[in-house]
Amino acid sequence: MPTLHATDKALEALTADAIIVGIGKGKTRPLMTPGAQALDVLLGGKLPDALKVLSASGAEGEVTRIATLGAGPFAVVAAVGLGAPSDDGTYSAESIRRAAGSAVRALNGRRAVLNALAHSGDFDRIRAAGEGALLGSYRYLTYKSEDQPARKAPPQRVTLLVPDAKDAAVKAELRRIEAVANAVTLTRDLVNAPPNDLYPAEFARRAEEAGKAVGLKIDVLNEKALARGRYGGVLAVGSGSDRKPRLVRMHYTPAGRAVCKIALVGKGITFDSGGISIKPAAKMDEMKSDMAGAAAMVATACLVAELGLPVELIATIPMAENLPSGTAYRPADVLTFRNGKTAEITNTDAEGRVVLADAIARACEDGPDWLIETSTLTGAARVALGARTAGVMGSDDLRGRVIAASERSGESMWAMPLPPELRRGLDSSVADLINANTDRLGGMLVGGHFLSEFVTEGTEWAHIDIAGPGFNSGSAWGYNPKGGTGVPIRTLLTLIEDLAAHTAD
Ligand code: BES
Ligand code: MN
Ligand code: ZN
Repeated sequence: MPTLHATDKALEALTADAIIVGIGKGKTRPLMTPGAQALDVLLGGKLPDALKVLSASGAEGEVTRIATLGAGPFAVVAAVGLGAPSDDGTYSAESIRRAAGSAVRALNGRRAVLNALAHSGDFDRIRAAGEGALLGSYRYLTYKSEDQPARKAPPQRVTLLVPDAKDAAVKAELRRIEAVANAVTLTRDLVNAPPNDLYPAEFARRAEEAGKAVGLKIDVLNEKALARGRYGGVLAVGSGSDRKPRLVRMHYTPAGRAVCKIALVGKGITFDSGGISIKPAAKMDEMKSDMAGAAAMVATACLVAELGLPVELIATIPMAENLPSGTAYRPADVLTFRNGKTAEITNTDAEGRVVLADAIARACEDGPDWLIETSTLTGAARVALGARTAGVMGSDDLRGRVIAASERSGESMWAMPLPPELRRGLDSSVADLINANTDRLGGMLVGGHFLSEFVTEGTEWAHIDIAGPGFNSGSAWGYNPKGGTGVPIRTLLTLIEDLAAHTAD
């Protein structure tokens, strides 16, 4: 990842291998932004003509690269489209974040890059310009046997143009941007890791390593401890694999007084074949990403510790591999969860809710003020909302706060109901619940209902289904690479900052 800096110097006093400026989409020609205008003055007013010659439109995702041929202190100009401005002539923070990512992805081989996207912008836009540039620089190269040539390497140094670089708030903001980018990178690396190398015990080891580095207290429950703790769901889902399940607990206590107690839970299925209710072969490889929720929660726990937020936080993270075998759990099995409730298994491919039932029950034993869970839970979430938007269910207050935080962080999420009549679809004739009904209607919401059965009455809770946005199976766009995305880390951090600030009273 590049290092991040800020400057308030005038453009003529700076040098770099490339400069990123934003252009908006106008009716007939691209619109200049303050950063583009400042650069244009330096280049003698030739930028609009150059953009015209190259047919730049200012559309979102468009990057026009121009060699300055010695006309300025920057060898390359990357004019990146921001899309159409809103009525007041401004661009949203998220369009700046995406533009920064697109531009950086087009600047391989440029070592030092100046980013003028937040030029004369507010803090939301400084954050967006920084996050977009760092997140867009991500590459997953762990399994490439040859070194990447310098001309393909992402920038190593990104400098943001800001109104006042000496402002302490700007410095704190840079630190937050880098911490977020590190957390997203950790999550993407974990999600992209192949399941032969990232199995439950190894995932737990990496979580422990990351947590210890920032001073978290870590407990890893192995299969014996899981049996002693009566984690019937985690054990059943993990029983088909030779690589046995784990439950990781990561505990953060702030230096001063904690204003509230937060529980995090994330689904950690290191590979989901469906088990005995096996999935079709097509795209089954994408199910290495079925631990994206767990990875995001590991990274968020570390992030909150690194930033020293005044909250107590405990992450409870079940990890298992869902495979068919002679020891696998099967349809018609009845399981008993940690809290004594029982479920009749009707589909071993609805395994996420089975491991999460135990984890949510355990998390509730800590008596949290807020319980936040995220998971790649249902294909139905993708049917309903597409691949870029998460569905959010839970109690009214926390669900609303999650949506508000998502809007501030630029991650797309939408509030979803838990209609009471859908709960009846989970009634079982032999146990307390079945784990999946045959009716496909409202599949995302039925998943939410199942989880809600394990949340202690009166606890504020939210379930974020990231089956769509947790993993990008298409090509890179904006600051999102192919593969793991790091969603919903930015929303979670913004939410936890909000809870830390507003639950004190
Ligand atoms: N991990 C899947 C959900 C999923 C599907 C995530 C596609 C990302 C992309 C989950 O375990 C699953 O298989 N869910 C079933 C539930 C059904 C059996 C009730 C599904 O969505 O089909
Ligand atoms: Mn499944
Ligand atoms: Zn799954």
